[in-house]
Amino acid sequence: MKLYRAENYEHMSRKGANIVSAQVIMKPDCTLGLATGSTPVGMYRQLISWYEKGDLDFSEVRSINLDEYVGLKPDDKNSYRYFMNDNLFDHVNIDKANTHVPNGMAGDIQAECDRYNGLLRQNGGIDMQVLGIGRNGHIGFNEPGDAFEKETCCIALTQSTLDANARYFDSVDAMPHKAITMGIKSIMQSKSILLLVSGENKAEALYNSFWGPVTPKVPASILQLHNNVTIVADDAAMALVDKKTGQPVR
Ligand code: GLP
Repeated sequence: MKLYRAENYEHMSRKGANIVSAQVIMKPDCTLGLATGSTPVGMYRQLISWYEKGDLDFSEVRSINLDEYVGLKPDDKNSYRYFMNDNLFDHVNIDKANTHVPNGMAGDIQAECDRYNGLLRQNGGIDMQVLGIGRNGHIGFNEPGDAFEKETCCIALTQSTLDANARYFDSVDAMPHKAITMGIKSIMQSKSILLLVSGENKAEALYNSFWGPVTPKVPASILQLHNNVTIVADDAAMALVDKKTGQPVR
């Protein structure tokens, strides 16, 4: 694993954008695995600005997102399809037909999961998977449990995730309690992984994921077994690692 330390959220976002740009420049027809949440917003903003300057071209890029809430329409402000359009796709020259997010409105959720698994197997898989991390160590919406979910599936959100994401909704009751998520096996099959971590409230998840045992109780800990993971974490997120290891880890 490679670790880049950033001073703060802005630096983390810029470094993350550097890494994604390098992927797009080296392989213009790459498949990016993309993530939602507040963490990658600054990175998407930076990518848009480099696109506007003419330094990046997304015309051949494909994207496959990690997850989507069950029951939200694509034009719902809280759906992850809306988030991706609003934070990236509407501002760069990616062909929307080449962008994929699970359909949370599918009548047959299992059929939708199967369709998504088919998509992941096509075209040689994901070149670079961008990830954020939940406060409980979840990636995508793979919540802590007794086993790792392998492929795309429908999961029940844990209370920790409901509490963390309720800020986007009018109330916890107004938010979906289920989501479709890419599974751990699919994430692990990505050729490279870029994990962005910012803020004190992620310090415990970051420490447990990479300085603790590999366990489904901390889903991101499985990333210790991937041979091409880059973490970009800011100082606040690294606080517990520094404290437990007794020195600033670089
Ligand atoms: C959601 C998403 C994850 C994301 C996590 C953290 O649960 N499904 O992909 O990593 O939130 O979000 P944030 O970056 O807002 O802390």
